[in-house]
Amino acid sequence: MRLIIRDDSSEASAYVANYIIDRIKHFGPTPAHPFVLGLPTGSSPLGVYKILVEKYKAGEISFENVITFNMDEYIGIPRDHPESYHSFMWKHFFSHVNIHPNNVNILNGSAPNLEAECVEYESKIKAAGGIDLFLAGIGEDGHIAFNEPGSSLASRTRVKTLAYDTILANSRFFNNDLDKVPKMALTVGVQTVLESREVVAIILGARKALALQRCIEQGVNHMWTLSSLQLHPHPMIVCDEDATLELQVKTVKYFKSIEKVALAQGFEQILPSKIRTGPSPVPVPQAIFVDEVQSPTILTPQPTTSRLLRPAAPAAEYPVRSVSPDLVPDRMASRLPDPTFVRRLTPNPEEQQQKQNDVVSISPFSPRVNAVGA
Ligand code: GLP
Repeated sequence: MRLIIRDDSSEASAYVANYIIDRIKHFGPTPAHPFVLGLPTGSSPLGVYKILVEKYKAGEISFENVITFNMDEYIGIPRDHPESYHSFMWKHFFSHVNIHPNNVNILNGSAPNLEAECVEYESKIKAAGGIDLFLAGIGEDGHIAFNEPGSSLASRTRVKTLAYDTILANSRFFNNDLDKVPKMALTVGVQTVLESREVVAIILGARKALALQRCIEQGVNHMWTLSSLQLHPHPMIVCDEDATLELQVKTVKYFKSIEKVALAQGFEQILPSKIRTGPSPVPVPQAIFVDEVQSPTILTPQPTTSRLLRPAAPAAEYPVRSVSPDLVPDRMASRLPDPTFVRRLTPNPEEQQQKQNDVVSISPFSPRVNAVGA
């Protein structure tokens, strides 16, 4: 887990926007090898979208070869409703950049067959080669997308009933009228998010502080679904100081020290190159087959296609560091003055002593080399 703490929301937003730009640029997307970006709604990512638009207008980034998948959409309001997530994304991001409308994917909360819509969405993500980076916000109850407390951590895109807390929080967009807030939504599942190659969550403000604390200082728990990021190989949370209010001082100090030490030592935390450049281009676009759902009703839950959480694959490559000290293995026994101790502690001491001597003769860190040199 990486936790990046910035003084305020503007600095946190700038960090995330620059990070996304850096990722897209290093990826070098082409029509055959597009960058696949997962996107959230809510007030938290607004600053990020604003900077991405500014940087696009300044010619610093292009979304020409970027495919997007949004996290969720309300059920029960039309897509041109001012509070639909279609309207939100169009207003704050898509209408200002050069993304191809065909590359924009948002769940259709008015689809005649909601289960088929969810199955098709998962197929589209797969056909696009999976998501390279999923940007997320969280709810005050720690939900990621609309995966409300109690969601299965193996869940996939599906219909979800909104929690009362979420309805209350989102009523601010519906004239504070609870009756006007949709009670259901389509959302990607926790497992859908976990399968992205990287997840970045932006968490701003004191009202998210408890959720952040539960999600990173406590165990993986379906009541705080962002905590599932603990199972991801490349999760990053970017937050402002206010969001850290419930964290232990030692947690905050530790995560801040990681950045400080890295800077001082010239290290950089970089994703493995396979993640940075994405999978090999898919030669032929795959056709999307949607399973026909026999009883299209939201009262009959779609059987999930999810697998249980898989054990993490062993790392095939370690993050590249700009400085890597040339460490030489040391045998503590060789430091003991009494050779009989060395004999007792070391099987085949002669053979090992010879190896040690060989190492010593080429090691610039050896005190013996220094002694000879001095
Ligand atoms: C909704 C969205 C979430 C988002 C959350 C937070 O619930 N479905 O994806 O993270 O809002 O919104 P805000 O950033 O406005 O607090």
